[in-house]
Amino acid sequence: MKSPLDNSIEAHGLVREFKKGPRAVDGIDLRVEAGEIYGFLGPNGAGKSTTVHILTTLLPPTAGTATVAGYDVVKEGPKVRKAIGAALQEAALDPFLTGREHLRLQTAMHGITGDERQRRSDELLTRVGLTEAADRKIKGYSGGMKRRLDLALALVHRPRILFLDEPTTGLDIQSRTALWAEVGRLAKEEGVTVFLTTQYLEEADVLADRVGIIDHGKLVAQGTPEQLKAEIACSTVEAVPAESAQRGALASVLEQFGEQTTGFGPGSVAVQLADSDGNLAEIVRALDGAGVVLSQLQIHEPTLDDVFLAKTGRHLEGSGDEQEQEQEHEPARA
Ligand SMILES: Nc1ncnc2c1ncn2[C@@H]1O[C@H](COP(=O)(O)OP(=O)(O)OP(=O)(O)O)[C@@H](O)[C@H]1O
Ligand SMILES: [Mg+2]
Repeated sequence: MKSPLDNSIEAHGLVREFKKGPRAVDGIDLRVEAGEIYGFLGPNGAGKSTTVHILTTLLPPTAGTATVAGYDVVKEGPKVRKAIGAALQEAALDPFLTGREHLRLQTAMHGITGDERQRRSDELLTRVGLTEAADRKIKGYSGGMKRRLDLALALVHRPRILFLDEPTTGLDIQSRTALWAEVGRLAKEEGVTVFLTTQYLEEADVLADRVGIIDHGKLVAQGTPEQLKAEIACSTVEAVPAESAQRGALASVLEQFGEQTTGFGPGSVAVQLADSDGNLAEIVRALDGAGVVLSQLQIHEPTLDDVFLAKTGRHLEGSGDEQEQEQEHEPARA
């Protein structure tokens, strides 16, 4: 017998093929434990939303099985829907209704009535920071306000499992940090299981207990952010020559210290150090000795992007804005 309070998510060989489309989800196996925040990280078109749609019973899989809260997503849809809350990538909000009116509808839909209805709505509006804007129509909300209202709507019936599809895309830093805090609180204090998709490396790194990296419908890596980065034990050194004619000379010096990899900057040469405690001073001396003049030199610790690069041969491009990647790499200029 299944436990009535199974808050896990499990998928076996999950596939979704679209007619005249790609295999958007191509054989995914995963398990998310109760109370865990699972970050589903991948670039545009990787299959994140399609996976969420299957797990939230909006779309049947072409093959494979999945259980959410211990219930089969195909055979026990209503039970799954009762246990979960979801804030999807395209929030279905009515521009002519206010935030509070949306909450009234949502509470009614879940059979919450009387004083409890008011109490719950006020509590959620406060929690997502929309008390002031509660009586304004959605058409006057910013993108971030809509995302926050959508989160409040997903929480109305106190779901045990929460699906958030790119909840912070388009949010400013302040709203993003506030949402991270709220998601963290839900998991830690209320034991809610969170399945969160993101294109942001930093978000997965900071927020998720475990991360699954998805590319072209397949999970290419899975583990805690620390485990994944530890697999890529070595730092990367990236340099740009002062004159492009010296690129070859720069590459041959750097190659003494490790294997070439793809850099970020145009015209740069990047090498993943063979030695986990690579010595920058030694590299600088070698470059000096060879007469190579640099305009830029950076060393970066392994990030989830290095994991993505190692597994796919590409950077997690379009994974948010430039800023995101710069923050991620904290360049140490020499
Ligand atoms: N209804 C559909 N019909 C045909 N193809 C689809 C459909 N929905 C998604 N796809 C395709 O499936 C692939 C995965 O799409 P999905 O929306 O799951 O990606 P994603 O990881 O959520 O991307 P994003 O970060 O842009 O939201 C894409 O190639 C997309 O074009
Ligand atoms: Mg998506």
